[in-house]
Amino acid sequence: MLSDGVKIEQRSLFDSLSDLRVPQGQASLFPPAEEKAGKAVEVPKPSRDNEWLGITDLGELRKHVVLCRSCPLRDGARGVVFGEGNPRADIMFIGEGPGRTEDETGRPFVGRAGQLLEYALKSIGLSRGEVFIANIVKCRPPDNRLPLPPEVQACLPHLRAQMRIINPKIVVLLGALSSQTLVNPSIRVTRDRGKWFTKEGVEYLVTFHPAAVLRDEANKKKEFMADMISLKEKRDKIQSGR
Ligand code: URA
Repeated sequence: MLSDGVKIEQRSLFDSLSDLRVPQGQASLFPPAEEKAGKAVEVPKPSRDNEWLGITDLGELRKHVVLCRSCPLRDGARGVVFGEGNPRADIMFIGEGPGRTEDETGRPFVGRAGQLLEYALKSIGLSRGEVFIANIVKCRPPDNRLPLPPEVQACLPHLRAQMRIINPKIVVLLGALSSQTLVNPSIRVTRDRGKWFTKEGVEYLVTFHPAAVLRDEANKKKEFMADMISLKEKRDKIQSGR
């Protein structure tokens, strides 16, 4: 919860490599020799939402996610950016996918966009460690392009499992991809930012992606910061049971 003893889930991918075991029947961490030689090999089937229903712990889920080869993004990335923060957070922030700095560090939102996000959090009295920050896809798309629909679909079970475990009351959708994927494909951020949507008992706030704010501070920063105030008001309301 936001106010009580906060245990921070902030391990990078590399911390967990030592406890990796390849479960029976799953693809190996490294491509087999036939794959390197260009021969046809069996690829793992796309993950299904129910695959992780039994997992109730983020550390356990991470072990599965780092083994994922359900889409080609992992091959072009250094590693998986699982997400980090309070595993019992009331508030989750969801971006698009890791950029270069995130791929290098194994941590979400640590580049310029992340600095703006931290500034915005601070403006309403929150720190990174109190919320949970994740992305729609866990591996960096090449050249910082948007993840493609099949990549989003392949990775979505990871995020859904994270959301099921963390069980946030509020989800802040940073930009169009997370808004359209998690709430409604018809959302347009320029039109709908600042709006709240309720889905399955969770409150979703649509706002700008911090990178979009950085590209157009003159027009977007004020509105982005206003959305943070709306977030604080909603959080206070939920906490006080109003
Ligand atoms: N942009 C995102 O969408 N996610 C990150 O983690 C960093 C930049």
